[in-house]
Amino acid sequence: MDIPTNSHKKADTEYPVHEIIKQRWSPRSFSEQEVRSETLKQLFDAARWAPSSFNEQPWRFIYARRQDPEGYGKLVQCMGEYNQKWASEAPVLILTVVKENFSKNNKPNRVAEYDVGAAMSYFTFEATRHNLYVHQMAGVKLDRARKIFDIPKGYKPWTMAAVGYKGDPDDIPEDFEDAEKKKRSRKEIDEIAFKGSWQKN
Ligand SMILES: Cc1cc2nc3c(=O)[nH]c(=O)nc-3n(C[C@H](O)[C@H](O)[C@H](O)COP(=O)(O)O)c2cc1C
Repeated sequence: MDIPTNSHKKADTEYPVHEIIKQRWSPRSFSEQEVRSETLKQLFDAARWAPSSFNEQPWRFIYARRQDPEGYGKLVQCMGEYNQKWASEAPVLILTVVKENFSKNNKPNRVAEYDVGAAMSYFTFEATRHNLYVHQMAGVKLDRARKIFDIPKGYKPWTMAAVGYKGDPDDIPEDFEDAEKKKRSRKEIDEIAFKGSWQKN
């Protein structure tokens, strides 16, 4: 497995963890290199093998590569202005959609969004294995997305993601340069994992 080196972005983990987890990060600069359809299918294949409550698989994805202008243009219109500034030329754009109710009884699926997040994690780690990067986005115009793609009742547009090979960090709008170059940080393990009881500060 040949994973690119991003020494300034590599996760500085406290304990040894898998190289794919250390290498993944969310860039805003992507190279011009196109992502092959077959490669994308591999990433969606990984996504569909994520676990989900009752194996409902409530994830749906609308995607387009930059060379597919019709779908791509529609996806660009679904992004918030902030994200349009850096993501509107990414090689691939994806809109995630959540199926809100269980298929077997039409009752609300309380964890549907959680499962879609899990699928995106699977997608992202498979992407890392292919030297690809994924930058997820909450900044989405949800009503517009529903309208543009005619998303039916019972499904809701949820997040977006930009996917591609990494580009030159100097080659992005100035507002984003610092973020692209700065070290990544995380809370300490003790701040997020409490042994046996809720941690009081
Ligand atoms: C669900 C989700 C929504 C996000 N929304 C945005 C967004 O709208 N715009 C953006 O530039 N980054 C967005 N991000 C990227 C995060 O800011 C980024 O993952 C975080 O700062 C940690 O950095 P890292 O992914 O490089 O480790 C989002 C990430 C996730 C998982």
